[in-house]
Amino acid sequence: MTITIKTPQEIEKMRVAGKLAAQVLEMIAPYVKAGVSTEALDQRCHDYIVNIQKAIPAPLNYRGFPKSICTSVNHQVCHGIPSQKILKKGDIINIDVTVIKDGFHGDTSKMFIIGKPSIQAKRVVEISHKALFLGIEQVKPGTKLGDIGYAIQHYVEANHCSVVRDYCGHGIGRQFHEDPQVLHYGQRNTGLSLKAGMTFTIEPMVNIGGHQVKLLKDDWTVVTKDHSLSAQWEHTILVTDTAYEILTLRNEEK
Ligand code: MF3
Ligand code: CO
Ligand code: CO
Repeated sequence: MTITIKTPQEIEKMRVAGKLAAQVLEMIAPYVKAGVSTEALDQRCHDYIVNIQKAIPAPLNYRGFPKSICTSVNHQVCHGIPSQKILKKGDIINIDVTVIKDGFHGDTSKMFIIGKPSIQAKRVVEISHKALFLGIEQVKPGTKLGDIGYAIQHYVEANHCSVVRDYCGHGIGRQFHEDPQVLHYGQRNTGLSLKAGMTFTIEPMVNIGGHQVKLLKDDWTVVTKDHSLSAQWEHTILVTDTAYEILTLRNEEK
């Protein structure tokens, strides 16, 4: 596949899709509480995307994924499948939402903390959040992909956490996962040079322990090999003429 440079018309559609994805995370926030199942959260997001937004939940049936959102709890790194599992105090959960509207995708995720977190849980949630924004702040025409990866890896490792290597950010547009791959580790001034009109995600997964992961027998859920806690945040980003625009920015972030 090749990297697509979006036209102004396509960028407008990416803005719409990105905003809808962000609004799903805003809608679901009050329901992410102790006692709720991840399946119930999935059902609510599904109904909101389909009935209110008149959009499509991209994960549903994507390569056989059975649900409309991904829910990854505690040592689950990404691609957790919503289930009857009940959230309890002290859990941390990533909710990852991707919608398709008018042919274009918006992809974003955030961490929620249930009740009072352990110091370690709070730390990994904060470090992964800061890492995402350090990556985003690199974005402008001429920046290399390696600059994004370096900024994230350097910060995460300086804080004695690790960056997952086996999963990465991605170009996004008419396709859910387009070129290029956006690694969350790397070296400065290496790799592809960014150009205005590119759209891609940055979505660092940060582990308290080692970076190694394993895939569960459900063929989707990725967990840390050492069962240490993991956290992730994701935004869909547009490269503008001067810097970047976060297409999935939530009101709480403005
Ligand atoms: N939303 C995930 C990402 O950020 C991909 C989920 S694929 C699914 O790229 F099939 F698990 F939904
Ligand atoms: Co993504
Ligand atoms: Co995502």
